Amino acid sequence: MPPVKRERDEVLILDFGAQYAHLISRRVREAGVYSELIPYNTTPAEIKRMRPAGLILSGGPSSVYDKDALLCDPEIYNLGIPILGICYGLQLITHQLDGRVARRQKREYGRASLHVDVESDLFKGLPGHIVCWMSHGDAVETLPSGFKTIAHTENSPLAAIGDPARRIYGVQFHPEVAHTEHGFDIISNFLFKICGCRPGWSMASFIESSIEAIRRKVGGERVLCALSGGVDSSTAALLIHRAVGDNLTCVFIDHGLLRRGEAEQVLRTFREHLKMKIVHVNASERFLARLKGVEDPEAKRKIIGEEFINVFTEESFKLGEFQWLAQGTLYPDVIESSRAGSPASRIKTHHNVGGLPVTMVFKLLEPLRDLYKDEVRNVARLLGLPDEIVSRHPFPGPGLAVRIIGEVTPEKITICREASWIVEEELKKRGLYDKLWQAFAVVGDDKATGVLGDARKYGHIVTVRVVESVDAMTADWTRLPYPVLEAISSRITNEVAGATWVTYAVSSKPPSTIEPQ
Ligand code: XMP
Repeated sequence: MPPVKRERDEVLILDFGAQYAHLISRRVREAGVYSELIPYNTTPAEIKRMRPAGLILSGGPSSVYDKDALLCDPEIYNLGIPILGICYGLQLITHQLDGRVARRQKREYGRASLHVDVESDLFKGLPGHIVCWMSHGDAVETLPSGFKTIAHTENSPLAAIGDPARRIYGVQFHPEVAHTEHGFDIISNFLFKICGCRPGWSMASFIESSIEAIRRKVGGERVLCALSGGVDSSTAALLIHRAVGDNLTCVFIDHGLLRRGEAEQVLRTFREHLKMKIVHVNASERFLARLKGVEDPEAKRKIIGEEFINVFTEESFKLGEFQWLAQGTLYPDVIESSRAGSPASRIKTHHNVGGLPVTMVFKLLEPLRDLYKDEVRNVARLLGLPDEIVSRHPFPGPGLAVRIIGEVTPEKITICREASWIVEEELKKRGLYDKLWQAFAVVGDDKATGVLGDARKYGHIVTVRVVESVDAMTADWTRLPYPVLEAISSRITNEVAGATWVTYAVSSKPPSTIEPQ
């Protein structure tokens, strides 16, 4: 294959399986340089063909001494491309060149004080002392030839090393995590001072080039998009609308399990303000009828997924011929689905309720497949999507059905929806909403007695769930101040008919999940 033609500099990250690999990539992009994750064993010939400005070797769970340690082809060190190894990446450079990595009895984990020993491009302009974040078992014991020590910590005498002539560097700590002071500056120094990158990656330039690319691809053909009102499908639709105008038709299916005011908000935004072609399908009765009597969480998800496809297929047939189906797939989904067996890929499978209608033949249009979520949010803002949609908490595809324990009934939907509205409102009022990952109410069949005036009333127990998270893979329950809990609780019991008690969920993920079902 011919070499890739590059209009902008790009850095490739060899993925050795670290949980932080995506974070490295995001930091590089934040610095204005496009980055991609590639498998650790990508051949030197392929890397050369991709013409990267630099390579980063990520961390990873293995030790270079493991029987099945992940190794890259050592020929990559001879390509003349600048390299930065992070954690396992540093150990691999040492091991594959002629240095020595020592096994450690004890893991070094957490904060460490880094002392910069000699001047280098990697630490240019930074203080001589930096608090950094460590997480490693093995450590470099002997430098490979040509390398010198740049920085040390108390437990790692060779915490940063480099060979300026070959432009190969390595750090034992994690510059990509927020706990490392000046971590972003260290990554920027690698990009701009060592690789000589020019910043060329911004969301404004992405929008421009992707509108152009969509136009070229789609030509005069028609595009169909299932719009959920979430930020991903909304942004994909907006971008495509900019490119092909009314050749895009969006289908918005209301399954009757949306948040309060959500359907109105979506229609107001897209139809009235953004003047897009939206077909609104109110299918709540169909969904509710199929959910009647169903208690099992997986069965509920399956029914909603199937019914969604049925409704979508029927609607699309009514709307005429389409050649393209638009989807809001993001970069982590693209990578995770190819990182076979990764925990992320397994956890996510049950989340894709939609799925492709098998009886339809479409070409797929996925304009966000190179982007991270925070980049999508920036694109959305630049395209004029109102902040109330851009910064709204994530909401599961099967909607309130996964927040209702047991059978989904109209009464429980109303309790769940109204109580969740109160939770959101109280948090917004206090400026807390934007700091949280998700905040909602859960209702099941457990009941408890309340008093209303002089009468005793038997009603539902509502559980409030508020969590903080960065990626939903792990989450911690939020220690909300008592006055906030008190306000939420008293409003729910006063304002939501059928709710008599309020509890607060104090379990984190793992072992619990965020949604109760
Ligand atoms: P759990 O409950 O597995 O949720 O800790 C992790 C994140 O995924 C969301 N979630 C879903 N999203 N369809 C979706 O589109 C689903 O079926 C689904 N289930 C959970 C959940 O809201 C949280 O952000």
